[in-house]
Amino acid sequence: MPIERLFATPVYAATLARRGVGELNAQLLRECRQLRADDPAGRRWSAANYPGGYTSYGTANKMHRASPTFGRLETLLRPHLGTFLRALQFDLAGRRLEMTDCWVNLMPHRVAHGSHLHPLSTISGTYYVQAPAGCAALKFEDPRLERMMAAPPRRARAPRAQRPWVSVPARAGQVVLFESWLRHEVPANPLRSERVSVSFNYAWF
Ligand code: NI
Repeated sequence: MPIERLFATPVYAATLARRGVGELNAQLLRECRQLRADDPAGRRWSAANYPGGYTSYGTANKMHRASPTFGRLETLLRPHLGTFLRALQFDLAGRRLEMTDCWVNLMPHRVAHGSHLHPLSTISGTYYVQAPAGCAALKFEDPRLERMMAAPPRRARAPRAQRPWVSVPARAGQVVLFESWLRHEVPANPLRSERVSVSFNYAWF
């Protein structure tokens, strides 16, 4: 076909590690729930900004420095970040990306996280601590959508690379990485069991 596919938007999804993920997740889950119990300011922040759920985004957002368990997660994420950065063809001019923020998200039944991006960061991502089968996925939006003023809709069965919205399933033990400008959301959790994730940003600046 005389067609080139230009301006690709890579999204990375992989299993964090071959071993020890179950144990790490059990400890992360305990700490995420403990944090919610110990963080009244965060619960107030969540009531205003994350209705029905709990996020430590407004209060405890350097968890990789506050807890050795989250520090271990940061270490295990590094090789994934390296692979993704190489795939993105970034020239980092000898500077490393640093994890600047790391926070927890607990989503009970029907809690959603509206469409957003992560300003002032380079790479963002999520690691799934508890993701029961059928829980809400991470839904990405085609970054060119706002320019498509007279473009017809795409066929329902279009390949994933050509759909206006693409969902990456949430699976415990999986890491998802994307460029921070890529708009995304988490639709309402349809399950009664809680969906628990750790999100993070890396900055190059
Ligand atoms: Ni996000």
